[in-house]
Amino acid sequence: MAWLLLPLQYAPPGLALFNPSVVQYGGSYYAATRSLQKKQIGEIEWWLSGAHLCKADGNQPSFKGSSCSLFDPWKDRNLSYRDCIKPPLKPGEKKPKKQRDAKGIEDPKLFVWPGKGVYATYNRKPHIKDPKRPLCDKFGFVQYMSTVVYDGEPPGREDPWHLQAPVQLSAGQFSKDIYKKDSRYVKEKNWMPFIHAGELFFTHSIMPHRVFKVNVTGIAVQQWVSVARELLPDEFLQAPKSHMHGGPPVVLVGSSASGTGKPYYLGVMHYWDMPRMPGARAYHHYAYQMEAQPPFRICAVSKELPLRRYDSTIHAGVKANMWTRDINFISGLQLVDDNKTVHMSYGAFDTDARMLSMTLTDLESHFVEDFDCSRSRVVKVGAGRGKPGKEAAAGQRGAAAADGSREHVRQ
Ligand SMILES: *[C@@H]1O[C@H](CO)[C@@H](O)[C@H](O)[C@H]1NC(C)=O
Ligand SMILES: *[C@@H]1O[C@H](CO)[C@@H](O)[C@H](O)[C@H]1NC(C)=O
Ligand SMILES: *[C@@H]1O[C@H](CO)[C@@H](O)[C@H](O)[C@H]1NC(C)=O
Repeated sequence: MAWLLLPLQYAPPGLALFNPSVVQYGGSYYAATRSLQKKQIGEIEWWLSGAHLCKADGNQPSFKGSSCSLFDPWKDRNLSYRDCIKPPLKPGEKKPKKQRDAKGIEDPKLFVWPGKGVYATYNRKPHIKDPKRPLCDKFGFVQYMSTVVYDGEPPGREDPWHLQAPVQLSAGQFSKDIYKKDSRYVKEKNWMPFIHAGELFFTHSIMPHRVFKVNVTGIAVQQWVSVARELLPDEFLQAPKSHMHGGPPVVLVGSSASGTGKPYYLGVMHYWDMPRMPGARAYHHYAYQMEAQPPFRICAVSKELPLRRYDSTIHAGVKANMWTRDINFISGLQLVDDNKTVHMSYGAFDTDARMLSMTLTDLESHFVEDFDCSRSRVVKVGAGRGKPGKEAAAGQRGAAAADGSREHVRQ
């Protein structure tokens, strides 16, 4: 097992690049990362995010000497984008201690689509078309995806998945299963892409476990929903009001690589709590195994992954403050080296780009229970119109009290 610090350099230096999402593709390593600047303007603290793409040639993810450039798929294509502004507080609404708003691309994640190339997904505030109406209708985030490296069909043969501009991902007809009609907040974050039988799917949420198939317009056209509360770690189930979130892309572990000889999908989930002091989040990550075909149930969850918390003896020279020192966030997941090695790239302390690498055998040894899909219950399958009341009830029973926050605020 190895913990690496990725020397991702922004030119000019000064901006920390964190939450790296690393993939190997075609003889190079790529990392998408995030930067964050906080700026107080009037009463609002603005969180200004940026995305950056770094490339390192060769078979080692050393990134030493490689440089990173701004990743802005709108600017690159001369498209304008205006992030909508958070609407003012409603009369009677409680004023938070700090009023915050955000702009820019957040948490870009890379995934490889075999036969096509490298793609990115990322979060951003919705685009406002009319500058005279800059307030968000529903405040929150939307998900986008872009083609980053395309090696698919030879030129001249049109592949609609060779995306020319960012495509917004949407739950489409399934939105009403997820959001209340009068919901003021819509937060779509961390859609987790995976390729199944040459087509694109996304894990939309972990609790309940919702998988979408999307078409090239970015709209969900089919969904599979299941619940597997029994499989979730005890410490999570005992943590008050915590919610299990997704994270990096989901990857296929083929039968030749899998310890049992049976293929499965590997993913990473996380939750956070605040054991040290209010406001200081501590993140906990777990690997999980999902069946390799529909209905894509979760069939096993690992013990907690050994990401490193801040420790002054290990992290000498790292500027971690008391609020961010327990923050870790896995943004990248990939199997390399003939599927023998797992790379989990992660942001640490909101400042560092790090990576935890281990053999697949080692990762599989973090699963204490057998792969058993029978403990996961399918709640809904379909392309048709859902019945929100019914699903919400079933999801609640399955997810019980620990899932108190519901999904209309996702992270
Ligand atoms: C964007 O605009 C610049 C300046 O007008 C131009 O040089 C560039 O080719 C344009 N890029 C695209 C992708 O159209
Ligand atoms: C994708 O699905 C949506 C919703 O069913 C539909 O409106 C859209 O036309 C579809 N796009 C394509 C390319 O089929
Ligand atoms: C690695 O796994 C992928 C997905 O199962 C498979 O397509 C590929 O052939 C595997 N590579 C090797 C060298 O086993």
